[in-house]
Amino acid sequence: MSVDVKPFGKTADGTAVEIYTLKNAAGVEVRIMTRGATIQTILAPDKNGTLADVTLGFDSVDGYLSPSHSYFGCIVGRYGNRIAGGAFSLGGKSYTLAKNNGPNALHGGPKGFNTAVWKAKKVERPDAVGVEMTYLSKDGEEGYPGNLDTTITYTLNAQSELRMDYLATTDKETVLNLTNHAYFNLAGAGDGDILGHVMMIAADRFTPVDKTLIPTGELRPVTGTPFDFLKPTAIGARIGDKDEQVGFGGGYDHNFVLNRKDASMVLAARVTEPASGRVLEVLTTEPGVQFYSGNFLDGSAKGKGGKVYSKRFGFCLETQHFPDSPNHANFPSTILEPGKKYATATVHKFSMK
Ligand code: GLA
Repeated sequence: MSVDVKPFGKTADGTAVEIYTLKNAAGVEVRIMTRGATIQTILAPDKNGTLADVTLGFDSVDGYLSPSHSYFGCIVGRYGNRIAGGAFSLGGKSYTLAKNNGPNALHGGPKGFNTAVWKAKKVERPDAVGVEMTYLSKDGEEGYPGNLDTTITYTLNAQSELRMDYLATTDKETVLNLTNHAYFNLAGAGDGDILGHVMMIAADRFTPVDKTLIPTGELRPVTGTPFDFLKPTAIGARIGDKDEQVGFGGGYDHNFVLNRKDASMVLAARVTEPASGRVLEVLTTEPGVQFYSGNFLDGSAKGKGGKVYSKRFGFCLETQHFPDSPNHANFPSTILEPGKKYATATVHKFSMK
């Protein structure tokens, strides 16, 4: 296993960006840049050992700077997904956020964690290599209270597990919900849509939304709906169904309530691409996962190697707390208090069958 660092261009204001390359003996290679703590490349072998880049992104930092980017590979924060009306109250005080998604706040606002250049250093351990990235989000940044010290450690081991450890502390009570927004196409990024990928999500329930994609508060059983992925099913099998929820999302863009008995790491999802045999398993300590079927991709983004990312050319599995939790007392809490530690972990395991 090895970890290497190289320059990777500059942001618009001239800040230098670096890219870390993690490799293991199975051929898996993961590249992570300091801008947005973004996964830029994941090379994974198929059943014949042929490598393909299975995550969407750009060849250079410039591609990521456009405001119409689709959050390719980055960390979203301070609050991943939506907050209704860009407003919440905490400790008797009201907070107002920028509305950057119709009437709602999305992914931490226009200057979310995806736009920050993170400080980084190598991780070299006997069992894994990686990169530790830190970012201090200042009190009041994008409307959120408290100086939030954030560390995300990406590690890759010999079992082809890409692990993300999220840690944060604050000096004022705040809310947060951190995740990674990587898009996957296990046939290879830019090589067709993901409708034939076979998906399993270990969730008996999901959180239905209104037409602006804000959860209604209900935890609805998936039984008898297009959201039942307990039995592995092709993503495309029911995506065109006349179903109000699929209609609101323009496909899948929903939070699933993961089945769990305690707070330990559980298998959230398993995705198989039948032709290549590539398999992605996602394990997490989080209560939910946002399954997004790339409905807003529209071919305007020219990705790596000049490949175009059209509608549903990638899917995301964003492990997370539920969207709009600050406005739903019945959802697991996203509040972090001073003196407490926010600690979550997610593993993306690559294999083949
Ligand atoms: C998340 C949201 C989607 C969309 C994408 C980015 O998955 O839930 O609605 O905003 O991010 O395009």
